[in-house]
Amino acid sequence: MSGSMAALFQRLTQGVYVVGVAHGERRNAFTAAWVMQVSFDPLLLALSINPHHSSYGLLKEGRAFSVNVLKKGQLDLADNYARPASADKLALTEWTTDRSGLPLLREALAWFECQVVGEHPAGDHVLVLGKVINGKLLDCEAEPMTYRQTGAMDGASELFPEVF
Ligand SMILES: Cc1cc2nc3c(=O)[nH]c(=O)nc-3n(C[C@H](O)[C@H](O)[C@H](O)COP(=O)(O)O)c2cc1C
Repeated sequence: MSGSMAALFQRLTQGVYVVGVAHGERRNAFTAAWVMQVSFDPLLLALSINPHHSSYGLLKEGRAFSVNVLKKGQLDLADNYARPASADKLALTEWTTDRSGLPLLREALAWFECQVVGEHPAGDHVLVLGKVINGKLLDCEAEPMTYRQTGAMDGASELFPEVF
């Protein structure tokens, strides 16, 4: 357990997102902080996902994901989507879909829809590269949530090593 290591890494500025996945009529979503833009042309986002998450199977099958940007203060949403997959995980939130069928949260600050164009193993996670095919800014006044604002929600201090 390493609280000080977790505190150090929380100073790397990261947003907090709900990543949606879908295949056919099956959908899921999970809270993620490890999301970033990695190219202008083409427009690419990358995310890092633990392959043991239920969402990973759907992401592999559906070859697509949505990124819903959370607003500062939406800790209840971050907490809900950080729970293991369940029938009511999406039912507790208002969401819609576009052509891709990916879950898009109505309360989000913004969302993006991406098609998977690459994957790379990254330690205990998998880096997934997505080409942005659609996106919408829903609330241009709102401030995005930062990872640090989620405090101990992800239990990261149990996951960091004690030393470098
Ligand atoms: C603030 C926060 C950030 C998180 N970031 C990630 C992340 O970037 N990648 C990841 O794989 N899991 C991340 N998680 C953990 C998942 O949200 C969590 O394990 C979830 O239960 C997975 O859901 P699923 O099994 O339904 O796919 C994060 C959790 C929290 C609370």
